[in-house]
Amino acid sequence: MLPERSLTAIRCAFLDFVDDPFYVAESESVRYFADGLLVLEEGKVKALGDYQQLKDQYSEVAIVAHPDRLIMPGFVDTHIHFPQTEMIAAYGEQLLEWLNQYAFPTERKFKDKAYAQKIAAFFLEELLRNGTTTALVFAAVYPESVDAFFEEASRRNLRMIAGKVMMDRNAPDFLSDTAETSYQDSKRLIEKWHKHGRLLYAVTPRFAITSTDEQLRLAGKLLEEFPDVYLHTHLSENMDEVAWVKELFPRCTGYLDVYDQAGLVGDRSVFAHGVQLTDQEFQRLSEANAAIAFCPTSNLFLGSGLFRIEQAKCVEHPVKLGLGTDVGGGTSFSMLKTAHEAYKVAQLRRQTLSPFKALFLATLGGARALSLGDTIGNFDVGKEADFIVLDVRSTPLMAVRNPVANAISLADLADQVFSLVIMGDDRAICATYIAGELAYEKSSSPDF
Ligand code: GUN
Ligand code: ZN
Repeated sequence: MLPERSLTAIRCAFLDFVDDPFYVAESESVRYFADGLLVLEEGKVKALGDYQQLKDQYSEVAIVAHPDRLIMPGFVDTHIHFPQTEMIAAYGEQLLEWLNQYAFPTERKFKDKAYAQKIAAFFLEELLRNGTTTALVFAAVYPESVDAFFEEASRRNLRMIAGKVMMDRNAPDFLSDTAETSYQDSKRLIEKWHKHGRLLYAVTPRFAITSTDEQLRLAGKLLEEFPDVYLHTHLSENMDEVAWVKELFPRCTGYLDVYDQAGLVGDRSVFAHGVQLTDQEFQRLSEANAAIAFCPTSNLFLGSGLFRIEQAKCVEHPVKLGLGTDVGGGTSFSMLKTAHEAYKVAQLRRQTLSPFKALFLATLGGARALSLGDTIGNFDVGKEADFIVLDVRSTPLMAVRNPVANAISLADLADQVFSLVIMGDDRAICATYIAGELAYEKSSSPDF
């Protein structure tokens, strides 16, 4: 048989999820090969299995080995703001004051396309350095900022979703559009970027407070005209915000109803936060098959509150759920650190979040929240090969915590990846592959 030249293969330990551990036994949702082989063809998964079982079938294929490492699907960040990169860790305020004092003045800079391009490039490199291969991203109000972001994402062949912020009231003049211009600009950007390569567009009204009824109505019109674009916004993050929404929309029964009345609650809608949602609102999100981006580092940093994970993931009214960093309200680009804070939020509510559930949310759960469960999120045959090489011994302390690099049993693996969630960060990411190609490699990886 002739060698299959377009195939490449990687030998390593592999961990991914084939089902949702919130609803089926963890042993059925986790797929793990302590010594596995991943075969790639034209940027997609051709096969994944036990090395000994697959090696003869692919004996002609050159194999790259990553001993003592763990390969997982790339992380999926379901909510982040690229123009807030430089103002991460802004001191002392809660949401509404923080927006006025820090976020809005920073976002003003993104009218300058060259500046937006520079920060977009940095932002994407930072995602890759942290093992994030797909994100749902807020740009700024300026269409130039969206062009800059998508140009940089396209150059790196990344599967990214983003959109122009729409806001026509309760924002500084320099950051405001109008209902009509936001509709026209968004429409033009959808036509230009949606499904351009791996890129997808999200209609992005900032939140109910900064949009008039008319702007929300026109956002709904865009969703009707382009049924496979996303809706991305904030929802019920902070108590003062919820109270203000009630004043601004007295005819609505609650915050989610504002979006519902504009036709913005559907199966491609992703709502960031949802900390203050009522049980009825969770039920409505479940009924509409909409998703929530749980952003623990942001919710803790801005003092917004403790998200009710168990309510979102309840069996009776399940809501699609992913993790979001929400940089710059969030405090890290690392999805490992984000999962760590999600664990602590659960603890504070006397709930728990197992390491496999946390890593599911960071990978396949996030992919499903973004309606990309058939495209990315695990190593099923035919999926896009975006994945990361992890080192569970990436600091001296983690090496002491994990004396053996590759777990054999599922129990040992659970213990090992729990330490990765609690102690890991960008240092644990040795390499990031995009569509089967190396896109980031850590410069030195000391062995302890
Ligand atoms: N609500 C409206 N805008 C924002 C934002 O930029 N960050 C966060 N965390 N919440 C918001
Ligand atoms: Zn946000």
